[in-house]
Amino acid sequence: MIYTQAIQQIKEILLKNEADNIQHVVDFLQSTFDSYSWVGIYLVKNSILQLGPWAGPQATEHKKIPIGDGVCGAAAKSGKIENIADVQSDKRYLSCFLSTRSEIVVPIFCNDEIIGEIDIDSDMTNAFSTEDEVFLKKVADMLSKHIRTYS
Ligand code: SME
Repeated sequence: MIYTQAIQQIKEILLKNEADNIQHVVDFLQSTFDSYSWVGIYLVKNSILQLGPWAGPQATEHKKIPIGDGVCGAAAKSGKIENIADVQSDKRYLSCFLSTRSEIVVPIFCNDEIIGEIDIDSDMTNAFSTEDEVFLKKVADMLSKHIRTYS
């Protein structure tokens, strides 16, 4: 599926405004893009990242991550996208799944505050392109106001 079609489908999911709409978006991303092996949303609660809705073959033990720790915590601290082509070469990386080769983390902002992030692990090395970054930034912006009501 091309990114513009995916954005349209995510808009439709969010328009339904169901209580579990974030879970539906996460399920959609994980099942639509072959390289998105595991998709999760971390939410900032009490100054730490806490795992919210996720989709993938297995649960992660990293349900809570302090801001600043790992790739997820780095993105939450800087507010910048982390796109790690090879997780083994990044010392900050906290391993969740043996199969993961690359990872992208996209912060979710509400106004200027980071309220969460999209975290995607891929079983492929260098899975995430600049197009993925642009696409996932749009998804993060779309999720933003729903996360306020979710948390
Ligand atoms: N790899 C992440 C931890 C979260 S799991 O990928 C789901 C990190 O380095 O912060």
